[in-house]
Amino acid sequence: MPPIATSFTIISLPIILVAVVYQLRFPDLDQMFFLLPNFLVFKIIQNIFSKTYCYASIETLSPGTSYVDCFSVLDGKFSRVFMDDTSHKLTKDAREGHVIPGLWDGHGHLLRYGELMNSVNLFGTRSMDDVKERLLRYKAGHKEAGTSDQWLRGIGWDQANFEGRWPVASDLEISETFKDMYIMLDRVDVHCVWVSEKVLALLPSPLPEIPGGEIPAEGVFCDNSIDIVTQFYPRPGKERKAKFLKDAMLDLNKLGIVGMHDAGVFPSELELYKELVSDEDWSLRIYAMLECETRNTFCPEDAVKFNDSDGRLFVRSVKLFADGALGSWGSAMIEPYMDKPESKGSLLVNGTTLAKLAKDWARTGFQVNIHAIGDLANKLSVEAFTSAYDVLCPALTQRECQAQHRFRIEHSQVIHPDQQRQMLLMGIIPSIQPTHATSDMAYAEARLGKRRTEQEAYRMRSLLPLNPVLGSDFPVESANIFEGIYAAVTRRSPRTGLDADGGTEGWYSEETLSLKEALEGFTSNPAYGAFLEGKAGVIQTGAYADWVVLDEPLQALSMESLRILTVRETWVGGKMVYKRPEPDGIVF
Ligand SMILES: *[C@@H]1O[C@H](CO)[C@@H](O)[C@H](O)[C@H]1NC(C)=O
Ligand SMILES: *[C@@H]1O[C@H](CO)[C@@H](O)[C@H](O)[C@H]1NC(C)=O
Ligand SMILES: [Zn+2]
Repeated sequence: MPPIATSFTIISLPIILVAVVYQLRFPDLDQMFFLLPNFLVFKIIQNIFSKTYCYASIETLSPGTSYVDCFSVLDGKFSRVFMDDTSHKLTKDAREGHVIPGLWDGHGHLLRYGELMNSVNLFGTRSMDDVKERLLRYKAGHKEAGTSDQWLRGIGWDQANFEGRWPVASDLEISETFKDMYIMLDRVDVHCVWVSEKVLALLPSPLPEIPGGEIPAEGVFCDNSIDIVTQFYPRPGKERKAKFLKDAMLDLNKLGIVGMHDAGVFPSELELYKELVSDEDWSLRIYAMLECETRNTFCPEDAVKFNDSDGRLFVRSVKLFADGALGSWGSAMIEPYMDKPESKGSLLVNGTTLAKLAKDWARTGFQVNIHAIGDLANKLSVEAFTSAYDVLCPALTQRECQAQHRFRIEHSQVIHPDQQRQMLLMGIIPSIQPTHATSDMAYAEARLGKRRTEQEAYRMRSLLPLNPVLGSDFPVESANIFEGIYAAVTRRSPRTGLDADGGTEGWYSEETLSLKEALEGFTSNPAYGAFLEGKAGVIQTGAYADWVVLDEPLQALSMESLRILTVRETWVGGKMVYKRPEPDGIVF
């Protein structure tokens, strides 16, 4: 038991007992007579055990008091948030810097992020030669990678950088050593893998045709076809996965991130999470979406709700998948692609099944979060939710039912105006990645055409009344939330500072958010999307004591400086989990 609770119990239990006895004997007596001393004892203990922090400014994101300069922390939560009039700033409690609430990424993949940190980073490669060079360099430093037990893994290639040609398995035979290696490299959007000849040799021949899957070249497998390969992939063992997790957490803490929504965690991985969550170095809050071993199924034996006592792991949601990604023409569209008129992409599940799954999962008390990119996938998701409301809460309005179940659409990328209206009407939560818009803007209009891009694609402001949950989809994009905020506020690439035309106007700039709206998208909105409103993403009494210290107040920064912003400190549950190293060479 935490010290405060122990002390309070010891001191106030006798008082309460006496109060109860007196209350029974003299029912007319004013209860305040006993409650007041109890309250005072509580306050005194609170003051003894709590720790106070004062900063130059604190942006709370709490309605009412948006700026304060001090807070106290007790048992990992804010116990008092206040303006200090007595110029506390001169006392021991005073600290340098400006505070915002701890940041949350509303959609990421923690294990894959950690795995990426332990594999070849191919992001930003501009040619096949670039890819080869990085592979050679990585292998030189990681002799163990590439065996049949531990395949060499990488992520970040894009055939658009290979003069439009899909890569093939033999491209990976870079040297004699590489000829014998097991290699699996994820496309930049993780919707395709590219494998070596050794891996190909493991697979059945002829390769099976899988609905919702594609094999665009010898050695490349997209969407559902990826399963053909992954069934032979030696999944990393527990120890390696534990390392992936801890590496990822530390790296995210460096970026000011205190929590994330983990968008698809297998039951066996959840077991590992539960095992590790009480470790001292578990420094991130995780809202995990369960993903059944078999995609798009109902797996009630794994539908176990969970939360630990410190608020570091929450399990009460499930991830389903309606379609694939836009980059590989895998997202399911109502009308054909402009640059591939014979195709409308493909659904990974039909509407009937999706609706049934939504109902089954919601009945077990799980929030249903559906991955939907194309406008057909978004349409089916909205329809699945709508049909579920009637069964789940016959006595409530659809809006009330939605508020209770908080169904979400992950990505919400291309949405027909009809479904945008429906979402707004019912309150369906969009989970949006602002950097997807700026990463895809180079080709999105070619895929979708002018009208669809203008009316349907990458909505932000249009969906603002729904308090969109913002995220990055790391490791698909950089996990740096300030880059996400930049993309949302400017609709320009945080990498180049430019829009699709190479200008600074912003790509469909009518969809931009304000800085405050974007910040809420990475704090209070993900809190609501995870049933943690009032507990996370806000600095107020009773909330988790999570905060980030910046050099300047966020609102005072120029937009361009967001692209290079670093945080001074990150605190989770009243504990500092990251402190920026002092620049070398400063002598006091
Ligand atoms: C988590 O579980 C504890 C019991 O272990 C409970 O008291 C607490 O309210 C739960 N927190 C949330 C946010 O569900
Ligand atoms: C939807 O998919 C399920 C499972 O694959 C199948 O049994 C069912 O017949 C399909 N329904 C329709 C209307 O296509
Ligand atoms: Zn994702």
